[in-house]
Formats: sequence, structure tokens, C-alpha cells
Amino acid sequence: MTRTWAARVAAISPGGSQTISKSLASYGLTGVLDDLAEHGKGAYLWTTARQVLLDYGGALGANVLGYRHEGVRAAVTAQLRKGGLFSLPHALEADIGERLCAVIPCADMIRFTRTGSESCVGAVRIARAETGRNVVLYGGYHGWHGDYVATKEVHHGVPWILETIAKPFRYNDLDHLTALCESYRGDVAAIMLEPSLMDRPAPNYLRDLVTLAHAYGALVIFDEMVLSPRLARAGGQEFFSVTPDLSVHGKGWGNGLSLSFIVGRRDLMTAHGPMISGTFGGDALALAACGAVLDVYAREPICDQLRGHGQQLVDGFLRAASEHGLAWTHHGWPQVGTFSFDDYCEEVRAKATALFTQAMLRRKILWHPRIYYLTAAHHEREITRTIAAAWESLLDVRKAIESGDWSSLRGVLPTVPFARKA
Ligand SMILES: Cc1ncc(COP(=O)(O)O)c(C=O)c1O
Repeated sequence: MTRTWAARVAAISPGGSQTISKSLASYGLTGVLDDLAEHGKGAYLWTTARQVLLDYGGALGANVLGYRHEGVRAAVTAQLRKGGLFSLPHALEADIGERLCAVIPCADMIRFTRTGSESCVGAVRIARAETGRNVVLYGGYHGWHGDYVATKEVHHGVPWILETIAKPFRYNDLDHLTALCESYRGDVAAIMLEPSLMDRPAPNYLRDLVTLAHAYGALVIFDEMVLSPRLARAGGQEFFSVTPDLSVHGKGWGNGLSLSFIVGRRDLMTAHGPMISGTFGGDALALAACGAVLDVYAREPICDQLRGHGQQLVDGFLRAASEHGLAWTHHGWPQVGTFSFDDYCEEVRAKATALFTQAMLRRKILWHPRIYYLTAAHHEREITRTIAAAWESLLDVRKAIESGDWSSLRGVLPTVPFARKA
């Protein structure tokens, strides 16, 4: 018997994916979707079995302009002819560095890395080097490297000692943060957070957080991996007009190529020279892609477009849910967020969420149960089709909730990744 692609990757690669959130288990599609990604164009993903799926995963945010964007393709192809990595820093490091620093408020200098996790570790190292302190207070998701993982309930392979210097805090709770700053008074190097994701900041929260951090001699690092260039080009710091000391960016800036970077004040970026160095830092292919992304953003109001289409999607989904009498809540932002069946018991919530993803897949829409990303390639046509599919899929969910008959639910429920302690 021929094994499916899903079975093959599961047999050869732990978890069947290099990224937790891309695994079929994380979608709740184990045993439901047998094929894998083959190629993409715009908002669509072609699978190995030649299914064409309208994709709301956005390659976990890495594809802000959509798959195989023409400008990005042309820039990367032109650079490929010249080469990707060299023995000297490449001219694009200066060129793209200057252009990015010109659009990011906290950026005097820039350091290019390859993944978001690397950038997060680098920024934390800069903060520790600058302050001579150890403790970092974390709010949000900051990748799989470094001591941040010690803030998780389960952190196999991370020395317990790191728990003493990595502390999670509750978003929008300044009292909690103040208590942590007091507990570790004199040893807090940085407060690192996503300025917003599924929750909106309370009025003045971000501004007060910066004031609090500085009062305790700590630096503020904004993790803009998701919000930049989605909510605004520079992310939360631009959108909320609050400038951190350092920030980290990645995902969409390479539109599918591996690029991330740390930016910040000149005195911090040059101070004490903590070791941040990698063979693949300054990859000219990724920098060429970033140049093309910058060009598109300079020409077109991409963030407005993402917000506009995202809002249509949110309105359409919520209208469909209300027509079915379902309590369904949107969290996050129109351009990146999630929907949840908050008012139901945990079991129904989990089943309804999984059933919705499976019902959308039957209608050729790839919908992640925990987060959706809009891309600039999602136009009216895609949004209208998605709302219609959601209406039908929610009808399936309603019938299952009303009857208590979940026999249409296949496979196993989506796995939930490593929970935080705060
Ligand atoms: C806010 C945030 N920070 C950091 C990371 C880590 O980035 P990467 O997966 O590229 O290492 C992610 C990835 O999802 C993220 O969402």
C-alpha cells in the first residue's frame, strides 16, 4: 500500500512538522488531511494531491503579501543570479538596513538574523549586557530559543536554573508587573512583550509599562514579529505611538524567505558588543526579498488593505454565527486573530473549534483553529467565498451542538502547545 505524504513526514520527522503550529495535529487534521503542501500562489496553496486550498495560515505570518509574490520573486531571482551568501558583508545589509531604520521609530541601528527566535535571544542579550542584570520579564510568545521557554509549564530540556531569571507576566496587568519588578528589584534587565496580539492594550498600558520599566532601570523590548508589517509597518510601536528601547521583527519582512532583525537605540546596539553572530546572517536573498516588500509597502497601503478585508471577514463571520444563534467571539485584530466558542464548556468548545476547521477544509479552506493571518492576496473574492463557507460550516457546528451528535468530527482534537505559567 502506498503511504500518504502525511504518513511519510510523520514517520521521518518528529511531530510530522518542523513547526508546531503547522503540524496536522495542531490543526486537528491528523487522519483527515493526507497530503502536504506542494506550491502556492497568492492566497492559495496547492497540496501534493492537487487540492487547491484557500489558505488562512499565511505560512504563520511569513507570507504577508501572499505566496510567490511577483515583485519578491523577481528581486530574489535577480539576486540568486549574483549569489546568496558572501565572505564580506553584502551591500544590501547597508541598503535594507537604512530603509528599515527609516520606518521603525526605535531603530537607529539594525542587526539581521534569520529567525524570530534568534532575534529575541539577541535582543535579550543586548539588554542583559547593557544593564548588567539577569532577570527578564516576558509577556507573549518569543520563540523556542533561550530562557523564555523556562516560562512555560512544561519545558523539557531547559535547565531549571533558567526559571530563576525568566518570569512571565500577565498582559494588561500593571500591578502584576510592578510586583515582579519589586520582587527582582535591581536585577530586572528587560521587560519583553508583544505590544498586542489577541488582547488589545488598555488605555495607556504600553506607555505606563515603559515608564515602569525605566523607573526600575530595565529596558523595554517590543516583539513585533506578528504585528510588523501587519498592523502598521513598524508594528505596535507605530500603531500605538509608544517607542520601546529595542524591538525585534521577522516573519512577513522576507515574505517567505528567512529573515529577522533586532533594532534599537544606537547606544544600546553598540554597547558592550554582546556576541550575536551567525553564518547565515545577512543572507542577500532574504534581504532582496525584504527590499521588494519595502517597495510594495512604499507604493501601496497594505496595512489598510489587510485591515479592511480583515474587518469584512470578521463582520461576515460574526453575522453568520449570530444567524445560527451561536456565541462566537473574535479575538485579536481583523488582519490577524482568532475566533472562539468562549461561552460553551471546554469539551464543546474544543469539538466545535475542530469541527469548524474540518468543515472549512471540506469547502477547500485551510483554517487554523488558533490563529488566522490575512495576506495582501486575500481580495474581495476570497473574503466573500470564505464567509459563505463559514456560514455553511457554522451550520454543521450548530447541528452538532444542538443534537450532541459529533459523529461528523474526524481524527483527534487539535493539540494545544506548551502553556505559559502566568
Ligand atoms: C511574537 C513572536 N515572537 C517570536 C517568534 C519566533 O519566531 P520564529 O518562529 O521565526 O523563530 C514568533 C513565531 O511565531 C512570534 O509569533
